[in-house]
Amino acid sequence: MLQTAENASNPQTDLAFQRCINPACGATYDAHSIRTACDKCGDLLDIAYDWDRASVPTKMSDFEAMWSQRTNPVRFSGVWRFHELLPFARQDQLVTVGEGQTLLQQTDSVGDYVGMNHGQLHLQYEGMNPSGSFKDNGMCAAVTHANMMGAKRAACASTGNTSASLALYCSATRLMRAIIFIGSGKISYGKLSQALDYGALTVQIAGDFDDAMIRVKQVSQELGIYLVNSVNPFRLEGQKTIMFRVLESLGWEVPDWIVVPGGNLGNSSSFAKAFMELKELGLVDRVPRLAVINASGADTLYELVERRGVKWNGGHVNMDPIREYNDLMDREGIRADTIASAIEINRPVNLKKCLRALEFMNGVVRQVSDQEILDAKAKVGAGGFGCEPASAASVAGAKLLRREGVIAPSDRVVCILTGHELKDPTATVAYHTTDQELFNKTLGSRGVTKASHANRAIAVPNELDDIIKAIQLYS
Ligand code: F0G
Repeated sequence: MLQTAENASNPQTDLAFQRCINPACGATYDAHSIRTACDKCGDLLDIAYDWDRASVPTKMSDFEAMWSQRTNPVRFSGVWRFHELLPFARQDQLVTVGEGQTLLQQTDSVGDYVGMNHGQLHLQYEGMNPSGSFKDNGMCAAVTHANMMGAKRAACASTGNTSASLALYCSATRLMRAIIFIGSGKISYGKLSQALDYGALTVQIAGDFDDAMIRVKQVSQELGIYLVNSVNPFRLEGQKTIMFRVLESLGWEVPDWIVVPGGNLGNSSSFAKAFMELKELGLVDRVPRLAVINASGADTLYELVERRGVKWNGGHVNMDPIREYNDLMDREGIRADTIASAIEINRPVNLKKCLRALEFMNGVVRQVSDQEILDAKAKVGAGGFGCEPASAASVAGAKLLRREGVIAPSDRVVCILTGHELKDPTATVAYHTTDQELFNKTLGSRGVTKASHANRAIAVPNELDDIIKAIQLYS
């Protein structure tokens, strides 16, 4: 039986430790240390737990007891109400701004577009988080750990959402100063405006996200600044809860597919970790399949997995094709380029964890064009609550996998919509516009040739008769 917040002995930090993901290494480190890689072999780190000593529920529905404790900010949080499944901090140490109040929508109109039987397509709206994207799930965990470690400054490189999230946590909690690294001209105004408004120190690098990522790692190390990019294993602990809330919304039933856009591959990695642990704890009896969807202009994962056959292989990853592809990108100056700016990333830092995720969840990787992304986005807007371009890659990917017959029409599918509709209004307006010049400038250069699902504004003279005539004609 799960203990309630009142009577729970707080999870002790020594329940948790950091562990190298490379099974041949398996080095472990104290949870009370700041690391983004294994000292011994350089691989990524996981947060691991001594579950035998943890107070975990015997069934997922035990978490429903937390709903009655909503006056406690920790239990109000859609992340921390699952604290027992990420017990790396004591309850009095948890940082929250009320993240994770997100919705799972079942929509037949988008389901029809994807090609699903009615009742089978679900959209998980992570854009409903306080900063408008799924990042808040992980940021509350990273900021909790940063604060435990006494950090006064935290940094990230970002395509916009991580920076908005970090900036918000820093402004709302006043615990530390946010320092964000962004690429020049690579961030949508919705996201840039958040970082500026929340008062983050904003460093614009003359380069793209991949450049900013390299620099922020160097600077953080040099200046002892706490790094909150998803190489930080504590952040991914928070992102596991997206899966817990999906299960919660489905009455604790496991769907057949989780479809998620792939950028730096933190989400996909954390989703698999969530299911690995639920399985180990006997809280689920099966695991959904995973589909990670790249934009075709930023398709490193697709290239490596589906074309070059790179696999986790029980932890024995053949690094040669990865090195060769990185060299090729360097030699030929290949840069990520997609309207889905959130996932405009060619060197995903969580690549190896994602390979592990694909193995564990019997996953597939696909790429979709900017045209497919924007068409899917228009459908989500018309039949749902809307999303930013990167998020719609999941719906476009599900449609592709349906067409290929990989997803069956009777499967229960959950597409993760990672960011809010208003994050990138430029892309939305350019798609629906009647202004051909705006369309060409914003989208045409990226191979988008038509806006088949556009909802165009109608221009009318400022005359009552004309306005009435137009409304009668079009409605
Ligand atoms: N969708 C949105 C809206 C994102 O902002 C991101 C990543 C992704 C998908 C990809 O998720 O990295 O876990 O595979 N945005 C990061 C940022 C890179 O800086 O905001 P991932």
